[in-house]
Amino acid sequence: MTRKINFNAGPAALPLPALERAREEFLDFAGSGMSVMEHSHRGKDYEAVHDEAIALLRELLGVPSSYEVLFLQGGATQMFAQIPMNLLEKGSTAQYLVTGAWGEKALGEAKTVAAMFGAGVSAQNFGAGEGKERKYTRVPAPSETKVDPAAAYCHITSNETIHGVEFNAQGSRPFPDTASVPLVADMSSDFLWRPFDIGKFGLVYAGAQKNIGPSGVVVVVISKELVEKGRKDIPKIFQFRTHAENKSLYNTPPTFGVYMVRNVLSWLKGLGGLPKIEEANRRKGARIYGVIDANPDFYRSPVEKESRSMMNVVFRLPTPELEEQFIAEAKKRGMVGLKGHRSVGGIRASVYNAASFEWVDALAGFMEEFRKGK
Ligand SMILES: Cc1ncc(COP(=O)(O)O)c(C=O)c1O
Repeated sequence: MTRKINFNAGPAALPLPALERAREEFLDFAGSGMSVMEHSHRGKDYEAVHDEAIALLRELLGVPSSYEVLFLQGGATQMFAQIPMNLLEKGSTAQYLVTGAWGEKALGEAKTVAAMFGAGVSAQNFGAGEGKERKYTRVPAPSETKVDPAAAYCHITSNETIHGVEFNAQGSRPFPDTASVPLVADMSSDFLWRPFDIGKFGLVYAGAQKNIGPSGVVVVVISKELVEKGRKDIPKIFQFRTHAENKSLYNTPPTFGVYMVRNVLSWLKGLGGLPKIEEANRRKGARIYGVIDANPDFYRSPVEKESRSMMNVVFRLPTPELEEQFIAEAKKRGMVGLKGHRSVGGIRASVYNAASFEWVDALAGFMEEFRKGK
């Protein structure tokens, strides 16, 4: 079998060693005569996997004991609702800094929850234009964000997967400084591609299916202070407290998903951890953006340079017809997942941790060749 060069945005390519490990262990996990999927989530075999996944995440990211690491379900989308459900109360306000479509969705859910609780939501939108025509091509500079010092929390989408704009990727657009207001980030598409200081955040969450595993698991790293502050009058299953108190084993967790997260994190550790993967990702980014910048008459990045995502590289060709041709010819060379999101069109190459330099080099080489042929 030849594996595809997979640029899917998510679910996305997984590291081959993590998949091979799963294959080896699939039928007979740890000599138990059962697949890990067939084990009780209360048994010692599964619990060892669960604990190892949490420990690896803590180690890789340097998560201090003042934070909880949770493995939940419902995806990042459920967090859009669950976060305000926990953190808003009558008379309080949440703040949203919106830099793309996922931020809009998070804001929408927060408004619904706020209306239920008699709370408020304020938003700063960094798109240009209105309604469906709105275009997102940048994240704000620190001077542009006006954080409300009284907000219950301030929410960002650190990487907008569709638009390819990212905080803190290129150096001059750091995560906003929210002082004592807890910073909450949807890191679904840029979690663990490089080290970052978790101490600057009250809560980060990430659907696993891009950088750290399969769909079905959402990782939440949350300060114990926010866990304690969380509302107690919402159903238990939605309280972060419930999952923190039960080590994410309150009800049956997505055991196979957590097992795969363990495999991916263990692969990441074997590579040398986050500083090493950052080096690799920056090399990939330089290669692909290098081709775009060297051919400005043919390839065009709609994103401002300082906001360019290192994980989702979006670009345009001169016409939609050429874009279609590009995607079709790339497919013949084993490259899949290059079609931009249906809402924006164009090309998108998602180059998460599992996408090797060789894959990116193959794409960049093809871009150069395609351009020469036109
Ligand atoms: C930044 C971001 N947030 C949220 C989501 C939604 O995640 P899920 O489908 O796991 O709910 C996605 C999914 O693609 C995403 O890219």
